[in-house]
Amino acid sequence: MSLKLPDSGAETLPDGRRMVASAARNAGPILEVLQGLGLRGRLLEIASGSGLHAAHMAGPLGLIWQPSDVDETNFPSIRAWAAHAGVGILPPVLLDATQAGWAARLGQWDAIVLTNLLHLIAEPAAKTLLAELPKALAPGGAACLYGPFLRDGRATSAGDAAFDASLRAQDPAIGYKDLGWVGNRLAGAGMTVAITAMPANNLMLVARHSHS
Ligand SMILES: C[S@@+](CC[C@H](N)C(=O)[O-])C[C@H]1O[C@@H](n2cnc3c(N)ncnc32)[C@H](O)[C@@H]1O
Repeated sequence: MSLKLPDSGAETLPDGRRMVASAARNAGPILEVLQGLGLRGRLLEIASGSGLHAAHMAGPLGLIWQPSDVDETNFPSIRAWAAHAGVGILPPVLLDATQAGWAARLGQWDAIVLTNLLHLIAEPAAKTLLAELPKALAPGGAACLYGPFLRDGRATSAGDAAFDASLRAQDPAIGYKDLGWVGNRLAGAGMTVAITAMPANNLMLVARHSHS
């Protein structure tokens, strides 16, 4: 992704781990929410990026953690974070979550985590991702989507308005998605969504199959 983001200049440590400040900041609060969900089994992380979240969360959650990303240049950092954590993190796999059909290819997961991607992709791509998500989630599982959202079509802080505008200036097709729009797509796919307010005005959406 060639977008200019607040963390674009993240430091790489000598062992290959990319130290992304925002991921280090939000890992604790995200883990806290995930720990409250009673997750077990196998977790697919979409858009793992540096791999810092995997290293921070896989151990405490006691899950088999499958990192993935569309960009293979992230894999050395993901592998380095996994080695550093020394827990059950599988080697990263290539996944473009905006391409129809990935759920059938990767099978079903007990949990899925996606942090900070929806605002960086175009609406049709987000639609495809949100349509694949329920297919990749096993009955009884939880899909956890974290990031910034518009509410009733509006950014709800000056910082969000500025970040959203900076994204749209780089690519008019991308930018924050509306909470209602995302919720409707998941509900339309038969999912029930619980929303948790997170630090820095972000949200965590936890979606489960309505009849599981
Ligand atoms: C802002 S980073 C977030 C990384 C990590 N989830 C975090 O919160 O620190 C966005 C990540 O999404 C990945 N990405 C972009 N488009 C994607 C796609 N279509 N499918 C899967 N991953 C994608 C990028 O390569 C990048 O690693």
